[in-house]
Amino acid sequence: MSQHDVIIIGGGPGGYVAAIRAAQHGLNVGLIDKEYQLGGTCLRVGCIPSKAMLESSEKFYEVKKGLDDEGIKVSGVELDLGAMLARKTKIVEQFGRGILSLLKKNKVTYYNGTGRFISHGKVAVTDKDGKEQHLTAPKIVIATGSKPAILPGIQLDGKYVGTSTEALSYDPVPKHLVVIGGGYIGMELGSVWQRLGSKVTVLEFLDRIFPGTDTEIAKEAYDIFVKKGFEFRLKTKVISARADGDGAIVEVEGGEPVRCDRVLVAVGRQPYTEGLGLDAIGLKTDPKGRIPVDKHYATSVPGVFAIGDVIEGPMLAHKAEEEGVAVADAMAKKFAHVDYNVIPAVIFTHPEIAAVGKTEDQLIAEKIDYKKGSFPFRANARSMTINDTVGKVKVLADAKTDRVLGIHIIGPRAGDLIAEAAAAMSFGASSEDIARTCHAHPTLAEVTKEAAMSVTGKAIHM
Ligand code: NAI
Repeated sequence: MSQHDVIIIGGGPGGYVAAIRAAQHGLNVGLIDKEYQLGGTCLRVGCIPSKAMLESSEKFYEVKKGLDDEGIKVSGVELDLGAMLARKTKIVEQFGRGILSLLKKNKVTYYNGTGRFISHGKVAVTDKDGKEQHLTAPKIVIATGSKPAILPGIQLDGKYVGTSTEALSYDPVPKHLVVIGGGYIGMELGSVWQRLGSKVTVLEFLDRIFPGTDTEIAKEAYDIFVKKGFEFRLKTKVISARADGDGAIVEVEGGEPVRCDRVLVAVGRQPYTEGLGLDAIGLKTDPKGRIPVDKHYATSVPGVFAIGDVIEGPMLAHKAEEEGVAVADAMAKKFAHVDYNVIPAVIFTHPEIAAVGKTEDQLIAEKIDYKKGSFPFRANARSMTINDTVGKVKVLADAKTDRVLGIHIIGPRAGDLIAEAAAAMSFGASSEDIARTCHAHPTLAEVTKEAAMSVTGKAIHM
């Protein structure tokens, strides 16, 4: 029996960050993860491998399409899918080793096995050979993350009909990929295969893509993706999908079935608590399977905490990381706080889409008076020089106080640009604060400054 001050179940961005921060506070920490590779969904089969494939596929697409307008003649471009997939795997393994060494450096004890509550303060860890050991701690953090949601009628077979996990490694490139769900995963991974040559059909239940994203930005994105060659069928409810010969068949309500050679199911994710033994400690989940917590991530069971995808809120790695730090700070009786009004979100398509704060739709629904400024990348010198001029930055500010309420970006490097917006909002900036901040020239960030200036109708370059 090993004894710790804190046990953390789950080694994803929430769990391993919590482990490191708790160790920094001088606590004796045990971290449990059932996968060989640490880093959770994000590192193994999510954020990182998808970004590696998005980057490589975008380069391939750009070069294949030609760089004649930049005076570069390219010929004989070929795809080496094996090498592209191998690069992705190498990055994942490298980062996995990095997390292990961080744990070592911080003296966190790592247990590779499946964690399960057996009683209050006591957890069993079962390794892949079935060997079990028991750990005890007065504080236990659940950071077990989420898993893909699956619709009834979908028969996953791990080859023709699969989730994002399989869609990171299709080989060969599917001729026709059907994506169920026009959200983050569907559009990011759909983009990868579309750039590598697949015909991509997106079947989306709603009348729009990217639900929850600012409607104006989502509409602009939709038009761009249509131009790129995506086929969208909106207001389309999928009722079944199954393998059929060397391909798959997808049935939709009130329409003809769609035949294709691969199906990616991307209809959301759900909290993952199976096999965790919550019953053994009397911990109940809510109707959506999430673990209810208070503002310091304490569950209804004394000494048990939960963070990340398994609790309420956006299922984003960086939100889990913030909570990882905050739960460790709270357990060490330090100041702990996450500002949920300022959690940025990024969709790594091309163009990238990024947002922080309220959407225009939310401001309207909440009857908040706001002012709006926007500025297009096409009027920015840096955008022109990098040959990437599609999109805009939109700034929403309180009509009376000018405090920034939301910033929405579609365009080059939106995912990096949103950091300035988040920092400004964290400090309670007004649009004038951003407008008066000197931004280096020529940079893409000047588009944010000009959008802030245009809140009062005083953009310079438009
Ligand atoms: P999502 O919630 O973004 O999109 C799911 C889509 O499926 C929605 O548009 C929904 O209307 C549609 N849908 C649901 N049922 C359907 C049906 N029967 N037929 C057709 N369409 C249907 O979920 P997604 O893309 O699976 O992503 C899951 C989570 O992972 C998200 O919460 C996201 O936050 C996270 N994620 C974040 C990324 C990032 O930060 N860049 C990248 C990938 C995922």
